[in-house]
Amino acid sequence: MKSRAAVLWGPHQDWQVEEIELDPPTKGEVLVKWEAAGLCHSDEHLVTGDMVLPAEVREQMGLPDMFPIVGGHEGAGVVLEVGEGVTSLQVGDHISASFVPACGRCHFCVTGHSNLCDNGALTFGRGQISDGTDRYRCKGQGLNVLAKLGTFADHGVIHESSAIKVDPDLPMAAVALVSCGVTTGFGSAQHRAQVQPGDTVVVVGIGGVGINAVQGARIAGARYIVAVDPVEFKQKSALDLGATHAAASMAEATPLVTELTAGKMANSVILTPGVLYGDLLGPALTLTGKGGTCVATAVAPMTQTEASINLFELAMWQKEVKGVIFGAGNPRVDIPNLLGLYKSGQLKLDELITQTYTLDQINEGYEDMRQGRNIRGVIVA
Ligand SMILES: NC(=O)c1ccc[n+]([C@@H]2O[C@H](COP(=O)([O-])OP(=O)(O)OC[C@H]3O[C@@H](n4cnc5c(N)ncnc54)[C@H](O)[C@@H]3O)[C@@H](O)[C@H]2O)c1
Ligand SMILES: [Zn+2]
Ligand SMILES: [Zn+2]
Repeated sequence: MKSRAAVLWGPHQDWQVEEIELDPPTKGEVLVKWEAAGLCHSDEHLVTGDMVLPAEVREQMGLPDMFPIVGGHEGAGVVLEVGEGVTSLQVGDHISASFVPACGRCHFCVTGHSNLCDNGALTFGRGQISDGTDRYRCKGQGLNVLAKLGTFADHGVIHESSAIKVDPDLPMAAVALVSCGVTTGFGSAQHRAQVQPGDTVVVVGIGGVGINAVQGARIAGARYIVAVDPVEFKQKSALDLGATHAAASMAEATPLVTELTAGKMANSVILTPGVLYGDLLGPALTLTGKGGTCVATAVAPMTQTEASINLFELAMWQKEVKGVIFGAGNPRVDIPNLLGLYKSGQLKLDELITQTYTLDQINEGYEDMRQGRNIRGVIVA
């Protein structure tokens, strides 16, 4: 069939909305009509080149070029057709995408860490999960599909392991958010930092991910939640959604957290800025107290290998630095759970959607993200 998708032909370019050819779903796959797609910062790393391996490194590793690629890994849609052998979905089902496709059978899935499913290795790689071939074509060539999802499109053919069935009465834009940003931010606070009642938590960077670290910390019972972002609108949004204090920078937050905690500093610091640069780790560990945890959630440039931290303090004050992907949980548990918290009014999702766009307005949406105008922008059909 013919459809449309936002394609990135290479780094340092705009997204191009192209007419594409889509093959029907085969074994284990479903055809989805995408209804909503969140503009997560992770797609932006393809545009800036931060999440693109230098050509010489890629060739050394024997990997194919990741471009041209259909973007988007946060999304919600309706199943239009099911391929052979699909057991978990039917035509008409509403789904949330899962940006890590959890197979349910690998070592990590069966030990309760589906966010680390071996299928995650396919995030940037070519071809479908089912058989490694392409389903998408444009201008005579096969297209890669980000995270095997490609939610910046009218339609997609995805594997059933990438789709989580959700209640059909939920608004699609809200459902889209849990397929990456909400689950990632919330899980960074609850699963990875393991925020406890009474804790002091600092969240650095208030976008679609960080705002949900704030919400995760609030629901976990944190006493103080300090939101750090240079943009005033972000600080205000965080204060509206559960932060108790706000600051424009980690430097500004340091005396504030010192005062709030009588010098004990934060139990956890969660790093969710647009890009994780090495020089953010030092000030983040200054904010982290004895026995505390610093969670690195933001994506760093792929070639970034240096960060300056005080190693004496790391050991002597028994601090932890932890990475996290997709909130360190299990999408098949966490996505329905978060949507349940949304239904009961405890987790705010509608309030996170600052602006909606059509697929054709995708570049405008990303410009708004760069300018700090959105908590989350969402493309709606
Ligand atoms: N680990 C994962 O599984 C995972 C999943 C999704 C997204 N991410 C990453 O998380 C990060 C955040 O994503 P997002 O979609 O919320 O981004 P976003 O662009 O919507 O928000 C980032 C915010 O950080 C703020 N910021 C930038 N530099 C800062 C600094 N030095 N101090 C304080 N605030 C700063 C910006 O003003 C902005 O408000 C990105 O790097 C994204 O790629 C990681
Ligand atoms: Zn994302
Ligand atoms: Zn798995």
